[in-house]
Amino acid sequence: MVGARLGVRSVQYLGAVRGSIRRRWMTFGGRPRKAYLTVKQMSGERHGAKQPDRFDPARAAILDDPARFGYVPVEVLLAMLELPDGGTLVDFGAGTGLYALEIARRRPDLRVVALDEQAQMLAHVRAAIARSGLVNVEAVSPDASVSLMGRANGVLALNVLHELGDRALAEVRALLADGGRVAFVDWSADVDRPVGPPRDHVYGVAEATDRLVRAGFGVVERPTLAYHYALVATAERT
Ligand SMILES: C[S@@+](CC[C@H](N)C(=O)[O-])C[C@H]1O[C@@H](n2cnc3c(N)ncnc32)[C@H](O)[C@@H]1O
Repeated sequence: MVGARLGVRSVQYLGAVRGSIRRRWMTFGGRPRKAYLTVKQMSGERHGAKQPDRFDPARAAILDDPARFGYVPVEVLLAMLELPDGGTLVDFGAGTGLYALEIARRRPDLRVVALDEQAQMLAHVRAAIARSGLVNVEAVSPDASVSLMGRANGVLALNVLHELGDRALAEVRALLADGGRVAFVDWSADVDRPVGPPRDHVYGVAEATDRLVRAGFGVVERPTLAYHYALVATAERT
């Protein structure tokens, strides 16, 4: 009846809208959380993402938990990235900048660019930079990444692959300078974890590897971490 009045296309659209604002339960740090998908969040810009909803900036504080350095050590990330002296690192989807700032602190020779698409997250990063006094780290929106294309010796993609649509993944690849490496480190669907998103929101290592290969990356190393898969990727020549 409704279909006859509105037409099939309208009904399909309304169904998509209803589906897109459905309630989801997410867990992080062991506590159940509610999150809502919006129509915008389900739009084509997220095509290909395992979890098409963005990280909720209201939950930014959990990203600053120093316990994270225990199960994703900064030294493992630096070893994965093999950044040259004076190189440029882009932290793609930097969140509050916890890792970008720690890397900038340990490697004052680097230029560290903390990139995030959400203005609220960039505000957190800028406040943290101001508190730190570090001069080798900056916060930028994706608009500013144009000037970085082909210039990053390394890209860090930490806890973000499951949120990246295909277009964003292509941007990660385009950022790389010759010989540049990407450290894709994300919560694993292959292990039971007391922390992190539900397993059906993230990839297992095989699925993540397949996605990277389809996006034009070669996977060259796979270090082992407790709750995360870790993949070092380079841009395959086309
Ligand atoms: C789960 S948080 C992880 C933040 C940080 N990497 C960390 O581990 O602390 C994911 C972040 O990626 C950002 N993000 C998601 N998709 C993005 C995109 N296409 N471009 C830039 N940032 C993105 C979100 O805004 C969010 O701040």
